[in-house]
Amino acid sequence: MKNFISANDVADIDALIDKALHYKQHPYIDSQLGANRRVGLLFMNPSMRTRISTQVAARNLGMDVIVFNTDKEGWQIELEEGAIMNGSTVEHIRDAAPVLGSYFDILCVRTFPALADRNTDYNENFINALVRYSGVPVVSLESSTLHPLQSLADLVTIRETFTKPHRPKIVLAWAPHIKPIPQCVANSFAQWVNAWGKADFVISHPEGYELSEEYTCGATLEYDLDKAIQDADFVQVKNWSSYHSYGKVLTTATDRMLTLDKLRAAPNASVMHCLPVRRNVELSDEVLDSSHSIVTHQAANRVWAAQAVLSEILKANTK
Ligand code: CP
Repeated sequence: MKNFISANDVADIDALIDKALHYKQHPYIDSQLGANRRVGLLFMNPSMRTRISTQVAARNLGMDVIVFNTDKEGWQIELEEGAIMNGSTVEHIRDAAPVLGSYFDILCVRTFPALADRNTDYNENFINALVRYSGVPVVSLESSTLHPLQSLADLVTIRETFTKPHRPKIVLAWAPHIKPIPQCVANSFAQWVNAWGKADFVISHPEGYELSEEYTCGATLEYDLDKAIQDADFVQVKNWSSYHSYGKVLTTATDRMLTLDKLRAAPNASVMHCLPVRRNVELSDEVLDSSHSIVTHQAANRVWAAQAVLSEILKANTK
C-alpha cells in the first residue's frame, strides 16, 4: 500500500481487517517495525479520536510521532496552481509538501471541505497535492470527501461483533443535525461496505440527500426509515448535508432520530456512530445508553485500524 486515501488503495479489505483484529490481540507484536521512522499528523481541523488513535497506533509500532496543527500553527497554505500570492496565503503547497516530506516517512492529514463549491471540495486539492509533491506515503485522517480510517474501523467492528451465519444487513441511516455536515463519513462508509461486498446494504435518508453514486452504487435506497431498518443487524447513524443542493441543510426532520420505539423493528441491531454525536439531535439518549449502542467499541477500534494501515505502509515503503 503506497497511500491510504480511499477503499481503492486496499487490495484485500478482509486481510486488512484481519490484521487490525490481530493487532487488537497483540498490540506490541510489531513494536520495532517503525523504529527510526517518523509520522507527521497534520490537522487543518479539530479531532479527538483520529488524532489520539493514530498516535497510539504509531507508538505501538515504535514510530516517532509529531502532531502539527497546521491551521493554527502553520502558515496559511495556497493550493491554486499558478496563484499570484498577494492575498492571505503565505506558503504554496508545492513548497510546503516537499519540506514536510523531508521531515517525515509518512504524512497523515485531516482537511475538511468548505462546503461552498462541490467541484472544489470533490477535487481534493489539498490531499492530492500532498501526494504529488511530498514524496512520501500519505494517509487520510478525513479529507473533503472520505474518511477511510473511520470506515475501516467500522468494518473491523462489524466483522468482530457479527456472529450469525447469514450476511449482515447494514443500514446507513441519515440523522438530523442543526448545521451543514460534510458527506465524508457517509460516502466513505458506503464505498467501503460496497467494496467489501459481504453485506446487504441499505441507505436511508430524506429525499434530496442522495449521495454521489460513485460511492453508493450497489446499495439499496429506501427513503422510509422504518422500512429500511427492518431486521437490520447494524444501523450506522450519521448526518450529512445535501450533495446535489451542495452543502445545504434541506430538513431537520426530527422524526428521523433513532429511538428505541423505532428499533423494535430491528431488535438485534447494533447501533453505530463515528462520534462526536449531538445527543437528542442525531441520536437519542435512550439509544446511545442502551445495549444496542456499540459506539465506544467502534471508536476504540480506531487504534487497530490505524495500526494495520501504518504497518502496511511501513512494510511496503522504504524511503
Ligand atoms: N470519528 C472521528 O473522526 O472523530 P474525531 O473527529 O474526534 O477524530
